[in-house]
Amino acid sequence: MTLQRLLGIELPIIQAPMAGVQGSALAVAVSNAGGLGSLPCAMLSLDAMRNELAAIKAQTDKPFNVNFFCHAPPAPSDEREAAWRATLSPYYKEYGIDADTIPVGPGRAPFSSEGADVLEEFKPPVVSFHFGLPSAELLARVRALGAKILCSATTVEEARWLEAQGVDAIIAQGLEAGGHRGIFLSEDLSTQVGTFALLAQIVREVRLPVIAAGGIADAKGVAAAMALGAAGVQVGTTYLLCPEATTSAVHRSALKSEAARHTALTDLFTGRPARAIVNRVMRELGPIGTAIPAFPLAVGAIAPLRAKAEAQDSGDFSPLWSGQNASGCKEVPAADLTRELAADL
Ligand SMILES: Cc1cc2nc3c(=O)[nH]c(=O)nc-3n(C[C@H](O)[C@H](O)[C@H](O)COP(=O)(O)O)c2cc1C
Repeated sequence: MTLQRLLGIELPIIQAPMAGVQGSALAVAVSNAGGLGSLPCAMLSLDAMRNELAAIKAQTDKPFNVNFFCHAPPAPSDEREAAWRATLSPYYKEYGIDADTIPVGPGRAPFSSEGADVLEEFKPPVVSFHFGLPSAELLARVRALGAKILCSATTVEEARWLEAQGVDAIIAQGLEAGGHRGIFLSEDLSTQVGTFALLAQIVREVRLPVIAAGGIADAKGVAAAMALGAAGVQVGTTYLLCPEATTSAVHRSALKSEAARHTALTDLFTGRPARAIVNRVMRELGPIGTAIPAFPLAVGAIAPLRAKAEAQDSGDFSPLWSGQNASGCKEVPAADLTRELAADL
């Protein structure tokens, strides 16, 4: 079955859910253009999620995707928190921040039974997960709503595991991708490979439709992924300059600059590896491997630095999430971008 038939969409283009840089407006625009718009919920309260889902329902009758993280919440460690704050203390001094006033971060919440209650009110046609799947019980609740279930895989092993759990399609997230690595069966980053290497291997190993993600920025990239056996693509970074995205001013200007040619995997902003444009804090602390609190607890201590720097138009402490290919980013409506991406199909 084609991805279009499986998900009820016209174009095999999925707008990647991108927590922190978009809400319902981007999802609505892409769904109304015939692709699959996505609402990321990792950073939304239950009320905000309800409001965003109501906005989607009010503005489109086309299918859309609702996305969640599935990490196990970590036990906070005073020791790791203190070490992280000590590492950041020269910056606190520079910006005049009193470290004692910084709360331990809210970070990002995993999919929960309260989240499933909200989904029951809205019955989304598609639900996607990142960092593996929720418990069998929660997954069964989502399936009972009639939602098709997608999940990111970053290795062949993860793809096989997801197939065995009964998902409907697999998102092959290559190393080029912006934002968090969906890696969940291992923490070994040497298992992470580029989109085309990953796509070709997963297509060979599983029977489910495979969606290619990472570094796809134009119609030729979409067509190339389809030629390698993808049933569709999931595109993130390329949508970041669209007027419907809520991408911050510092993030937009970094994406438009030469700096966007330099990305790296970093865990400094959240505690989990994610691809971002290299900025001052990544350069000075090393992008990855510093002793920091476990995901998502690293968020809290760096948040006030980000806020102070951004108030001065600086992205020195911001997570400037981006894939390796920002060349397709354009300040055009998301509907136009979606149609352009599908132009060579
Ligand atoms: C700014 C940003 C935020 C992201 N947030 C999420 C998220 O909340 N949930 C998710 O499943 N994937 C997230 N991702 C990863 C995307 O699903 C996808 O793998 C990636 O965007 C594909 O690579 P590309 O950015 O090169 O197109 C994010 C990516 C970016 C760039």
